[in-house]
Amino acid sequence: MTSTIILLLLPLSLLFPGTFASVLAIDYGTDWTKASLMKPGVPFDVLLNKDSKRKIHSSVGWNRDDRLFGSDAFNIATRFPQDSFPSLKHIIGTQFTSNKTWYYNQISQAILLETDRGTVALDPKNGAGQWTVEELIGMQFAYVKSLAEDVAKERVFDVILTVPPYFSNAERQALLDAVEIGGLRPLALLNDGTAIAVNYAMTRSFPEKEYHVILDAGAGSIRATIASFYTPNALPATTTKVQRSVKTTTKESAEVDILAFGWNHAASGNELTRRIKERLVQAFEESHGLSLSNDGRALARIWKEAERVKSILSANADSFTTLESLVNDIDFKTKTTRLELEEACSDLSPFFVQPATDALANAGLTWDNITSVILSGGHSRTPIIQAAIRAVAGDAKIAQNVNADEAAVLGAAFYGASLSRQFRTKKIKLQDITAHDIQVSYDSESKSGSKRTINTLIFPRSSKVNVKKTLTLKRKEDFTLRLSYKTPEFIPGFPQNILDIEISDVIPALANLTSRGAVDPVVKVTLLLSESGLVSVHDAVAYGQIRDDTLTGKLKTLFGGGATSSSESSSSEDEGATSFATGSSSLTPAPAETPSTSDTKKEAKNNVSLTWSINYLSIRHLTSAEKVTSRQRLTSLDNAEEAKRDREEARNLLEGHIYRLRDLLDEARETPQTPFYEFSTESEREAIGSLLVTTMAWLAESADAADTQILRTKKRALETLEAPIQGRKKEWDIIPDAIMDLRKALDAATHFLLTASNERNQTETSNGIEGEENNVSKWTPEEIAEIEELVSETTSWMNARLAEVGGQRKNVDAPFRAAELDARGIKIQKAVLRLTNRKIAKPSPKKKVPSSSETGSSTPSPSENSEAIPQETHSLRDEL
Ligand SMILES: *[C@@H]1O[C@H](CO)[C@@H](O)[C@H](O)[C@H]1NC(C)=O
Ligand SMILES: *[C@@H]1O[C@H](CO)[C@@H](O)[C@H](O)[C@H]1NC(C)=O
Ligand SMILES: *[C@@H]1O[C@H](CO)[C@@H](O)[C@H](O)[C@H]1NC(C)=O
Ligand SMILES: *[C@@H]1O[C@H](CO)[C@@H](O)[C@H](O)[C@H]1NC(C)=O
Ligand SMILES: *[C@@H]1O[C@H](CO)[C@@H](O)[C@H](O)[C@H]1NC(C)=O
Ligand SMILES: *[C@@H]1O[C@H](CO)[C@@H](O)[C@H](O)[C@H]1NC(C)=O
Repeated sequence: MTSTIILLLLPLSLLFPGTFASVLAIDYGTDWTKASLMKPGVPFDVLLNKDSKRKIHSSVGWNRDDRLFGSDAFNIATRFPQDSFPSLKHIIGTQFTSNKTWYYNQISQAILLETDRGTVALDPKNGAGQWTVEELIGMQFAYVKSLAEDVAKERVFDVILTVPPYFSNAERQALLDAVEIGGLRPLALLNDGTAIAVNYAMTRSFPEKEYHVILDAGAGSIRATIASFYTPNALPATTTKVQRSVKTTTKESAEVDILAFGWNHAASGNELTRRIKERLVQAFEESHGLSLSNDGRALARIWKEAERVKSILSANADSFTTLESLVNDIDFKTKTTRLELEEACSDLSPFFVQPATDALANAGLTWDNITSVILSGGHSRTPIIQAAIRAVAGDAKIAQNVNADEAAVLGAAFYGASLSRQFRTKKIKLQDITAHDIQVSYDSESKSGSKRTINTLIFPRSSKVNVKKTLTLKRKEDFTLRLSYKTPEFIPGFPQNILDIEISDVIPALANLTSRGAVDPVVKVTLLLSESGLVSVHDAVAYGQIRDDTLTGKLKTLFGGGATSSSESSSSEDEGATSFATGSSSLTPAPAETPSTSDTKKEAKNNVSLTWSINYLSIRHLTSAEKVTSRQRLTSLDNAEEAKRDREEARNLLEGHIYRLRDLLDEARETPQTPFYEFSTESEREAIGSLLVTTMAWLAESADAADTQILRTKKRALETLEAPIQGRKKEWDIIPDAIMDLRKALDAATHFLLTASNERNQTETSNGIEGEENNVSKWTPEEIAEIEELVSETTSWMNARLAEVGGQRKNVDAPFRAAELDARGIKIQKAVLRLTNRKIAKPSPKKKVPSSSETGSSTPSPSENSEAIPQETHSLRDEL
């Protein structure tokens, strides 16, 4: 009648072993996206968008051909209401038939379509094509990636993404798909309340275990997370309760356990905006007798205005609205008071705290057990929400000094860092849980032929994630397991069924085991609840204890070492009964399954792999090929946009070049003293002028259709004509300096010769008087002669060049290059330096003066010889 089910709990090792460079954390909210990059050497902070704002509007849109992100994309709705896609998180991983698509149309004028998977696609009116929600969100992730890469100065791939705890398998999978479509690699999904808990633990010490409520009020929902915090190795300085929030060192670790979740969609930030919008629409329609229902632009402007009114009313008692020419040149003026807003939302007020009370109940705690309420999310500043939560929790329990907007993204980033060994962060031991009851169902296999469905709660609500459980089933044939959410919560559009697992090859596998002596073999299916909260199949095998007929085997059986491990699965003859080998709250591997010996060979013989296939029920998963196609669509859009930017740049450069040349020609015509005139010939100017005329005509007629390459070629043609003039000008410009430099080098050499000659005369005189034989000149006559020769040769070469230059017009190429002058100057300078830098030697009378090869080794040092070296000359100094 029943079969035995054994559930096993096996902790998984961390999914990501250590080596990755940058990690991107994205807190993808319904209205706002926050991101943070962690890269060794880059200051850890929230990423700024292109306008240096710390948060990015979660929108994508088009202004005709130009794709927009952030607030630009949100604001374009007032001009192109159907080309702006805000708050797409409402419809990620959602069936088109769900009430969520209806809701989305309340907050956006976008046109929604059904995909062949039954999900939602959006259809902008600009002709950009239809896009699935995954693709549009993928674009936003790719945009965030590009912001991160600008900061990281390298490619960024790995991302940790926050997700509302109540997100279903399908919604989680769709977000992961969007990450991949955006060109990123998802490391993990992290529940947003959990991320806030990690952030909270990062800088605090908890000598005694504390329980906190994290209330995250966002645009899409309000959610509560109960977390416990404990610091097992708290330092003595932080042991009093008063010092609870003292900053801790990385030496202290923290244990963060997530205990329960609660949530509500009805009282979301978007819903408050929607209520204000409804009021404004109604006010306009009543006072002007006009319907706005078909005026997308007016509705988009009112939505934007409703957002503004909501934020004004957070701090003020009333808000004035003026929308000029809202429709038919009618200016819409009205006033909204906070009281009116509160009245319009009075039915929602129980829902503001309901997530927290639900979560407390799920955790088996009361407000008395709670140290503080950590408020988070942009919507948490709304006075009605604040008032509601203060009323139940008490003012004293509202945590201060918590960064409400950025806690989730920073927590996700810390978590990413803790996965990597590259960052030295505080050690956080985190245990997250799942928000929903997940059950496994299958039809019983009974001899009488009557079937009934057996449901087993395999991953109950609040059970730990990152866990495998093994089902042991007595089956004789192929069968199907269904995974579903047990209690469909009140979440509009929440899909109950997750997936079917079809297990096949059961009959041959059992026969295989039986033929080898196994008695009553069973089927074992291992299910995985991943760290990201997704369920899947890990393994499916047929398993049987094979009788060991060898002598040792028999002896083992005698002493009770053999057939114990499968006793639980084989002892029961009942079909359908459910028993848990271990308590579902325990994380330790169940000893019943692990063989008592480490005889892995024997274990291998005892099971035979089964094949299985998965059929996703509410929403079919994207195939790899579909994801690749989507990725390619995004890439080709990126490429097209880049090509367009390149083309626009090429065209601008060409235009700029044309106007510059035209101005040069015009000036040269008016005042022949311009450099352009001086350095160009008549025929060169004519050639440029006529090419300019044809290029400008071409620009006016055909440039719109021309590609980047042609635009660049046109510019190059003009540059080629201009190049000789520019080159000439450049050469003539530097020749005077080069001549000056060479003169200075010659002067220095002449000066040296004079000094040397002086010294020699003195030496001779003193020798004559005192008979000092050893005191000779530092330089040999040959050396002096060499310099003299160099000076005279260079001087005449230079004079000849100067004579040539004298009669030249500047619109022909110079008869020599400045570089030649420089080379000669350097040669002289080196020769002189070699001699002046020589140490005052005291050569023995027998020894000859040092040879030139020895002196060559002394390095010239300009500072010691400042007298001899023209310091200010650029070219010589460069050479030195
Ligand atoms: C969706 O829910 C709203 C509010 O609960 C309701 O007014 C609306 O009719 C529903 N729409 C659909 C298509 O079920
Ligand atoms: C919660 O508070 C109650 C009453 O104050 C107390 O009995 C209980 O032990 C507390 N629970 C925890 C987990 O601290
Ligand atoms: C049983 O299965 C194992 C492994 O799958 C295979 O090596 C062996 O040949 C099979 N034995 C029989 C009798 O089919
Ligand atoms: C089946 O045998 C393989 C190979 O030894 C082992 O890795 C796997 O864990 C076994 N599966 C089960 C469910 O016992
Ligand atoms: C050195 O002596 C020579 C010949 O006696 C003379 O021509 C020359 O002018 C003298 N040089 C100096 C710098 O006095
Ligand atoms: C040679 O004599 C001059 C003048 O008396 C003196 O300054 C110089 O140091 C002497 N040189 C050597 C190498 O002794």
